[in-house]
Amino acid sequence: MIEKERLRRVYLVGFMGAGKTSVGQCLARELRYRFVDLDHEIERDTGRTIPEIFRDDGELVFRRLEARALRAVGGQPEIVVGTGGGTLTLWENRDFVHLTGVSVWLDAPLDVMLDRCRGGEHRPLLAGRPEMEALFAERVGSYRLSDLRVDASADTPEALASRIVSMLAGMR
Ligand code: S3P
Repeated sequence: MIEKERLRRVYLVGFMGAGKTSVGQCLARELRYRFVDLDHEIERDTGRTIPEIFRDDGELVFRRLEARALRAVGGQPEIVVGTGGGTLTLWENRDFVHLTGVSVWLDAPLDVMLDRCRGGEHRPLLAGRPEMEALFAERVGSYRLSDLRVDASADTPEALASRIVSMLAGMR
């Protein structure tokens, strides 16, 4: 059994193209929680796009902004958070997610995720397959620490959201 307080926040984690935003929106609707996309929060707070932040200030500054945004949204009740593919690379963020909510890893084969990212100029870290393979290999260990894992490759966002709702109900 998981503490009641943690069930009030659901963090969707996983690599770029896993479907964190689309599944998160459906999940929030089903749970009657609010949906927040971390990248959108950063863009709203800074008035700049993610590619602009990477271009002008670099990844390190982006990670600092991301950690700050995570803390701001993670303090709110009844919320579904779509994290960024690299949010869990910082151990502070992993700890924060674990302490404040339930994490759900949307897992899918790399090719499926990369296919979904096609035409994604808004993803500054997107590169060729070998680079993405290496990045995924670096990160998969942090995704694996999640409370729940769902195969996000086949179903629609609505079906995945329903499955997650059932899994969360089983944790109560
Ligand atoms: C990133 C993923 C992006 C965004 C930024 C960095 C990453 O989010 O946060 O471009 O490090 O994998 P998505 O996972 O929503 O694409």
